Amino acid sequence: MQPHDLAARIAGRAPGLSAKTAIVLGSGLGGLADEIADAVRIPYADLPGFPASGVSSHRGEVVLGRLAGRAVMVLSGRAHTYEHGDARAMAVPIATLAAAGVETLILTNAAGSLLADVAPGQPMLITDHIAGAGPNPLIGVGGDDRFVSMVDAYDPALRALARKVAKEAKIPLAEGVYMWFTGPSFETPAEIRMARVLGADAVGMSTVPEVILARHAGLKVLALSMITNHGAGMTGRPLSHDETKSVAAEGAARFRRLVAGIVAELAA
Ligand code: HPA
Repeated sequence: MQPHDLAARIAGRAPGLSAKTAIVLGSGLGGLADEIADAVRIPYADLPGFPASGVSSHRGEVVLGRLAGRAVMVLSGRAHTYEHGDARAMAVPIATLAAAGVETLILTNAAGSLLADVAPGQPMLITDHIAGAGPNPLIGVGGDDRFVSMVDAYDPALRALARKVAKEAKIPLAEGVYMWFTGPSFETPAEIRMARVLGADAVGMSTVPEVILARHAGLKVLALSMITNHGAGMTGRPLSHDETKSVAAEGAARFRRLVAGIVAELAA
């Protein structure tokens, strides 16, 4: 099925609701989908090309409805490159968002902090990225528009809005550069030291391919991390996905407030 057919299928399930904002929910952040008013849920299984995510903290459905009074399309569950080795894992959903008339994409994820003073539970605004890991998701795509500029890929106006909303809500918002490792093993302490030298402030296993795909599709991007741990070797403790899930759940209420506050300020 082509993206515009998928967009039509989604629109057919929620007549009269045309969302200009979409949100991808990361690990432990699925609870935001429960705050959507008048929610219409479409399982990814009904949308050929949408991924079946095998990660325990990810659902697999599109949720259409309203958040903070604004029409939104929520992708509850993402596919990661580490699941199939395919950096294009989110290509169909993102092309579908663009075909559906979405203009702004808010990406969320769980990430490890490389900054001693940015602690688990804190949200971080992503200002830029280092695609340290896998292949580019546009490999194999034709046309000159594959040569996507990644300057200001993380939209400056949306970043300013996130800062303003966080300040007004008294939510301490860290910010920095996110470096993509494919995972699924966590980084080694040596890789974390390398990432710090290279200028990264956080590490994670998602988002970067989605940002590239979204910029290719002409979407404006805002990306927010939920810091769930310090990078490997920074605390002396091993990392675990259970920790990622439980810390994300603890900080989730504040994170959801931040996202809802941002959505409230976006065009209806
Ligand atoms: N590394 C990579 N991905 C992550 C981490 C991490 O430390 N924490 C949450 N997701």
